[in-house]
Amino acid sequence: MLLSIRDLVVRIGQIQALRGANLQVAEGTIVALLGANGAGKSTTLKTISGLLRPASGDIFYRGESISKRTPREIVSLGIVQVPEGRRLFPRMTVLENLLVGAYLRSVSPALLAQELEKIFAHFPILGERQRQQAGSMSGGEQQMLAIGRGLMAKPNLMLLDEPSLGLSPLMVEEISRIIGEINRSGVNLLLVEQNAEMALSVAHHGFVLETGRTTLQGPAGDLLASDTIRHAYLGR
Ligand SMILES: Nc1ncnc2c1ncn2[C@@H]1O[C@H](COP(=O)(O)OP(=O)(O)O)[C@@H](O)[C@H]1O
Ligand SMILES: [Mg+2]
Repeated sequence: MLLSIRDLVVRIGQIQALRGANLQVAEGTIVALLGANGAGKSTTLKTISGLLRPASGDIFYRGESISKRTPREIVSLGIVQVPEGRRLFPRMTVLENLLVGAYLRSVSPALLAQELEKIFAHFPILGERQRQQAGSMSGGEQQMLAIGRGLMAKPNLMLLDEPSLGLSPLMVEEISRIIGEINRSGVNLLLVEQNAEMALSVAHHGFVLETGRTTLQGPAGDLLASDTIRHAYLGR
């Protein structure tokens, strides 16, 4: 198993944000983590990234516990988070934002240029808008930039926090297509979404978080067809 989360308990102040979360990401896959607002989805990603420490439970990456590693060490292992709300540098250009993604790596300018070309192949709009201020782009374009910046860190496992939030249905479809493309290029993904339909249509496997506990899991197709999911998360 690439990533394995076992009985994870995380406290934020007085709140028990996670009370026993269990989740696995198999090599080669996209895993969707679903749940209502406040269920603990972002907490799960932040704990994997080393930004929060578990009170108990553990996180294993390629069989090794990483829950005591620093955020920087975790990035160096190939785990890269694209945070909720994108967190771009709005006054910097598209190109500068992308280069920030590579800051922890020592890469030759030639290799960097090659990698930028790959990003622009996934997101042609970013290539066209390289010199534009990030803050002047549309929500969907900014989400693409945030994902592109994450890719510049050369992730083996990308943690995506609600990439579809606030985007038009057309843009959601585009982002979901690109997530599939990124996975086929060899990147594993843990995709956090409130948009269960989008997430399950692109993921291989899904987990559901309810008030800090994983309550349901299965192949994405099964979850998409299950009555529980349909009623609770698909609104039908
Ligand atoms: N910085 C914080 N301070 C206090 N409570 C927080 C903070 N971050 C998250 N929480 C609480 O932890 C729980 C889980 O939050 P979160 O992981 O952000 O949920 P989700 O991403 O699923 O919407 C919620 O009850 C939320 O209110
Ligand atoms: Mg969240």
